[in-house]
Amino acid sequence: MFERELTHLLRCYKILPNYKSGLMYNSTLRFQNFLRLAYRQLFVQTRVFGQTLNMENIMDNKDMIDKIIKIKQELGNRLLILTHHYQRTEIIDLGDHKGDSFGLSQRAAMDENAKYIVFCGVHFMAESAAILAKDHQIVQIPDMDAGCWMADMADSYLVETAWNEVTAIAGENSVTPLVYMNSDAFIKAHCGRNNGAVCTSSNAVKAFEWAFKQKEKIFFFPDEHLGRNTGNNLGIPANEMIVWDPEKTLGGNTDQEIKKAKVILWKGYCLVHTRFTTNDMESMRKDFPNAKIVVHPECTQEVVKESDAVGSTSFIVKYVADSPKGATIIIATEINLIKRLALEYPDKKIIPLKNSLCPNMYKINLKNLLNCLENIGQTNIVGVDETIKKDAFIALENMLNL
Ligand code: 13P
Ligand code: SF4
Repeated sequence: MFERELTHLLRCYKILPNYKSGLMYNSTLRFQNFLRLAYRQLFVQTRVFGQTLNMENIMDNKDMIDKIIKIKQELGNRLLILTHHYQRTEIIDLGDHKGDSFGLSQRAAMDENAKYIVFCGVHFMAESAAILAKDHQIVQIPDMDAGCWMADMADSYLVETAWNEVTAIAGENSVTPLVYMNSDAFIKAHCGRNNGAVCTSSNAVKAFEWAFKQKEKIFFFPDEHLGRNTGNNLGIPANEMIVWDPEKTLGGNTDQEIKKAKVILWKGYCLVHTRFTTNDMESMRKDFPNAKIVVHPECTQEVVKESDAVGSTSFIVKYVADSPKGATIIIATEINLIKRLALEYPDKKIIPLKNSLCPNMYKINLKNLLNCLENIGQTNIVGVDETIKKDAFIALENMLNL
């Protein structure tokens, strides 16, 4: 009987919350939190009374968490676990430092003590940490397949070809390449070789200003939307920002358009963030007229223009923290961050604009984190070719010096 009830509760735990209703959403999360605590308690109880309940998953998780904590204690400050804001809560809880991609790269660059850096995020983030790491440090990622769709949209051969075409028309010395952190080491190295820089969503405006001081044009890879939103922010007219579609001749532009453009935007995008629409915003505003809507700059310019605030994942975290008690905040970014914020701030109504999950971020779990730690310094090592590393380092360093 007890087992049946517990199974029912476990099913409830997986029920998708009703995102339309903030109240419902928050109470569902509180209920989930309550269940989590109840499971932990039950785990202890069942051990004490030796009952055989169908709790394998809970036992497994508890067991894995204990093992991870033990390894962390053994390695002490020789180990640094970095976690991106989009990671699952149980992973964030086990990390040493959480942040947005800029904050995590800064953290990786400044650390001297840790011999092992385990990066719980996607591959380009771990790769950037490996580029910035000191020679004695080893960077590992729990799942090598945790990639990024957007980063994959900028293939190094296509980028080199496009760069050669643009500079042949606009002039060798008239373009600065800027690359979003969400890209592989080859593209970062291309930027480093051509006096460019990396940027993230938290410093894109600064990076654009820096680039315009160097040369008259920017070639921005690979996120069309972050690039356009940043250009809009700086008041660059729409007709001076062109899109480069690598599947078309000259990216789908004429010589004249390329000569006139101030910003050339690679046609890449994030599927998690381009799912949010102004229709979603309209219907939410009807349901929650007093709510503020905060969005990530990987959203389209239409969504950004309709929002109350826009910024990186760390900006969103701070926005929620700084909002007054009782505030209603609707957020357009990855769902795991929103869920966590709703749990952390039960006195505020935190609602996702839509349920949008990054399956790559979600690939990191307790099992592969434990596996990585049990094989510390041996498996899933993120390596970068030395020449690529040298050039990519220049581009990352230019960002850190902005
Ligand atoms: P942040 O730099 O804001 O953490 O964003 C990284 C990312 O991949 C967003 O999709
Ligand atoms: Fe890449 Fe989008 Fe996932 Fe960020 S949310 S890691 S940009 S796929």
